[in-house]
Amino acid sequence: MKITQFDKNEHDRKSFDCGNTELNNYLKCISGQHEKKDISRTYVLTSELNPSHIKGYYSIAVAQVSLCELPTEIAKKYPSEITCSLIGRMAVNHTCQRQGLGSILLIDAIKRIIQASSAIPIPMIIVQAKNEDARRFYSEFGFVSFPDNYLKLMMTLAHAKAMLKEAEH
Ligand SMILES: CC(C)(COP(=O)(O)OP(=O)(O)OC[C@H]1O[C@@H](n2cnc3c(N)ncnc32)[C@H](O)[C@@H]1OP(=O)(O)O)[C@@H](O)C(=O)NCCC(=O)NCCS
Repeated sequence: MKITQFDKNEHDRKSFDCGNTELNNYLKCISGQHEKKDISRTYVLTSELNPSHIKGYYSIAVAQVSLCELPTEIAKKYPSEITCSLIGRMAVNHTCQRQGLGSILLIDAIKRIIQASSAIPIPMIIVQAKNEDARRFYSEFGFVSFPDNYLKLMMTLAHAKAMLKEAEH
């Protein structure tokens, strides 16, 4: 199994189906444009046996978070609006769901963001859940919902680093 940057010449995006039309269409129609315009980066999980077949993917972009959106005890630690990393989309092919691949993708995304944060400071990771199932998936890892937007969740980078350290032990 490997996770690499999406390449439309190498990866078969047409056969990807996670059961959510919007997430399927993002991979098929939008991710390439976003890549070209430096709006987001998409990473795909494939198997060694069939490297063109996409088992799952995620995309990372940036997002502005205003302090009034955050819980007061977190907001008071920051001087003004903050720029965060956004895991905007994540999906696993419907034939492979509930086999741990979503967890592998999420950990990989967090590791990638932590690595990038040594060059560009990133105070927080934001995820946008599409539904209650996805919210539960993210909250299992310690992501916490925004007070006024249950499906938008956050994790400080310090928390993400601690979570990974704990997972590795
Ligand atoms: C949400 C999604 C990415 C999770 O990927 P996955 O490979 O199925 O998840 P995992 O097998 O790694 O699950 C890890 C844990 O997350 C939780 N979880 C995952 N899917 C869940 C669901 N549908 N309902 C409730 N909890 C869920 C469970 O605690 C699960 O552990 P368990 O299987 O031991 O109970 C995947 O199911 C998916 O692509 N769904 C459709 C598209 C979608 O909604 N994407 C989210 C976009 S925001």
